[in-house]
Amino acid sequence: MNINNIALNFLKLITPETAHNITIKMLKNGIYFKPFYKDDKILKTELWGKKFPNPVGLSAGFDKNGECYNAMLDLGMGFCEIGSVTPLPQQGNPKPRLFRLPKDGAVINRFGFNNLGIDYVYEQLKKPRRGIVGINLGKNKTTADPIIDFVKGCKKLSPLADYLVINVSSPNTPGLRTLQGQKELTDILSNVQKTRDKECGKNPPPLLVKIAPDLNEQDLNDIAQVAKKLKIDGIIISNTTLDRPNNLHHKDTLNEAGGLSGKPLFKKSTEMLAKMYKLTDGKIPLIGVGGISSGEEAYEKICNGASLVQLYSALVYGGAGLITDIKKDLVKILKQNGFENISQAVGSKVK
Ligand SMILES: Cc1cc2nc3c(=O)[nH]c(=O)nc-3n(C[C@H](O)[C@H](O)[C@H](O)COP(=O)(O)O)c2cc1C
Repeated sequence: MNINNIALNFLKLITPETAHNITIKMLKNGIYFKPFYKDDKILKTELWGKKFPNPVGLSAGFDKNGECYNAMLDLGMGFCEIGSVTPLPQQGNPKPRLFRLPKDGAVINRFGFNNLGIDYVYEQLKKPRRGIVGINLGKNKTTADPIIDFVKGCKKLSPLADYLVINVSSPNTPGLRTLQGQKELTDILSNVQKTRDKECGKNPPPLLVKIAPDLNEQDLNDIAQVAKKLKIDGIIISNTTLDRPNNLHHKDTLNEAGGLSGKPLFKKSTEMLAKMYKLTDGKIPLIGVGGISSGEEAYEKICNGASLVQLYSALVYGGAGLITDIKKDLVKILKQNGFENISQAVGSKVK
């Protein structure tokens, strides 16, 4: 048993937000065990001219303030997405706001973008990086015009981003999800693109948008049209869901407001991924996220159109050791299916 397992067993006994805060502190201070596993070359992939050692990344929300991305890269993540970060620091919703549903392998959160703001994150990002770090931008709760906030975030942080994400899909900021409409999205993304190009000159970071799983066919189609028209570099599918499937165990916790993530999200977000892959003719890179806790599930996402995958909730139950387990299984499954490189498997079930 290494320090990561000992910490995980302890952390499961305390309230989830305290456990999270302790985890961040440990990672930030280098208190973790770095796995010996070396990524198999079958997992190597290249996207937007960037080399990813493996396609398994950390999704937004875990390292909101950019304090432990190097630790997560050390633990085997192929890339890390920090944020969501808003222009001004904000406290988020009152506690408790994070709930475990262990029997369902799920989590409900209504954090509401608690974070230390772009100036703090800017300082964190000056440290040398040990891999690819994406920055996920949100808006402050009280800002009336969302474009102002996304442009501010972009102005400050795009020069430091390996990729930039516009998050219009968290369910815990009032009105945020309405920004996924065709006109609203076009206005935000085109303004951010202009700012990014001005700030970053010749080598701007790719711009991605992260969407909710609770969208209908028309919404999806509209987003695909916007992404194609504006030549958006990627789409992240998906954020947490407002669904409360009635087959879950923790009936009391299910009544908590917020976004549900983890296992119950897998099917819905994967189906949506496949639809978006078709709507964009496989031409826009997609990041598949939602309910991944095994190599098999990561493989499913990839075959359904994901060039990269991300996870968060499964780490609450499986700890850091899960990252290596997922990669090892993924290597095995890719080889069993006759693939020589991960990129050959992308979209293989929906082509
Ligand atoms: C506690 C928690 C906080 C999150 N915070 C953010 C966030 O700030 N920004 C964001 O884009 N997604 C956020 N997410 C969503 C995750 O990035 C991810 O899209 C979602 O949880 C589905 O993946 P999973 O099932 O592997 O957790 C959060 C998720 C959780 C569980």
